[in-house]
Amino acid sequence: MARRTAEPRRLGACYALTVPGLEHVAAQEIEETLSAEIKRVAAGLIVFRPPEISRDLLSLRTVEDVFLLLWGTDRLTYRAEDLDLIRRWTAREPDWPEALRLLQKIRPRPKGRPTVHLVTQMRGEHGYRRADAAKAFAKGLAGKLPETWWLVDENADYEIWLTIDGSSAVCGLRLSDRTMRHREYKQEHLPASLRPVVAAAMVRLARIPYHGSLLDPMCGTGTILAERLSVQPRAFVLGGDLDYTALLAALANLKHVGKAFLARWDARRLPIRDACIDRIACNPPFGIQLGDPFEIADLYRSIVREMDRVLVPDGKAVLLVSDVSALEAAAKLVRWKRQDRLRIRLLGQPSYITVWSKA
Ligand SMILES: C[S@@+](CC[C@H](N)C(=O)[O-])C[C@H]1O[C@@H](n2cnc3c(N)ncnc32)[C@H](O)[C@@H]1O
Repeated sequence: MARRTAEPRRLGACYALTVPGLEHVAAQEIEETLSAEIKRVAAGLIVFRPPEISRDLLSLRTVEDVFLLLWGTDRLTYRAEDLDLIRRWTAREPDWPEALRLLQKIRPRPKGRPTVHLVTQMRGEHGYRRADAAKAFAKGLAGKLPETWWLVDENADYEIWLTIDGSSAVCGLRLSDRTMRHREYKQEHLPASLRPVVAAAMVRLARIPYHGSLLDPMCGTGTILAERLSVQPRAFVLGGDLDYTALLAALANLKHVGKAFLARWDARRLPIRDACIDRIACNPPFGIQLGDPFEIADLYRSIVREMDRVLVPDGKAVLLVSDVSALEAAAKLVRWKRQDRLRIRLLGQPSYITVWSKA
């Protein structure tokens, strides 16, 4: 029988976590922006080797967290013997002094005694509990961290994560902090506001020409527009919403990233002339927010017709919806061609990012 080993032993590989369904968009961003080699892509996880461990890792927009990989495996057995493997791999696989040196390149040593928090996540049905895995993980770490480091339950300077998903597990030092996931620009939130990584993925999927315009006709708190401006602060972006509260939130968020043109309008009758917008990215209200499925079909028909009117002839639209058949029926009426469809889970329900071309 093959010896069960955790891979890799050579430090310098990383992994990133994202919303399940977005991993291929994220892998592409990692490859393009960091010139990294992609090693493995699984649900919500990308393992990669960047040319170096640097703060460039924190500029990724379609992932929520980045880690230095200490060990990884896809050979867990689901049985209690995994606990011994977790303990042994944590104790033996990483070159701990080198791992801490790489971590401190990105997260410099704080003043005073550094604090550290251990995080154990577990998905799937295993013959042991998450608490057992956490205990095995902590045992493996015994004697590995500097004696001056202090274990705490929250707000730690450093975090070491073990993420178990079925027969796979990754263990790593967290290089990112909460600002990667939550974004500094996002000061104002509303219940329906989008997770920034999803908005970033939509902007990437829109493949906006360098000088191209981007419209979000139902912009809510402005997350999609903010993601575009974060990458290109001088880009031409415009948005609007029926709701004043949402518009005020968008104004407050967008002022941190660049200049956006915002207006109060009804997306079914946009005050925009025909054929002048290069790209649209938008997440209209989900059916659940309106309550009535007939209403959503009506709304999608009206907004898609209006989007079609304002898009340039080779324009594209990236739309995030839950009721994908209502959207597809609306797109059929204006003869849009579907270029891509990604299934993700948002607010506990399946949702779809769809990419359409007008041509
Ligand atoms: C799901 S939210 C958009 C969230 C946004 N992407 C964000 O990150 O905050 C949908 C938005 O559509 C707006 N809306 C609903 N009907 C509208 C209409 N007819 N015209 C313009 N906006 C509308 C709502 O006020 C809401 O802000």
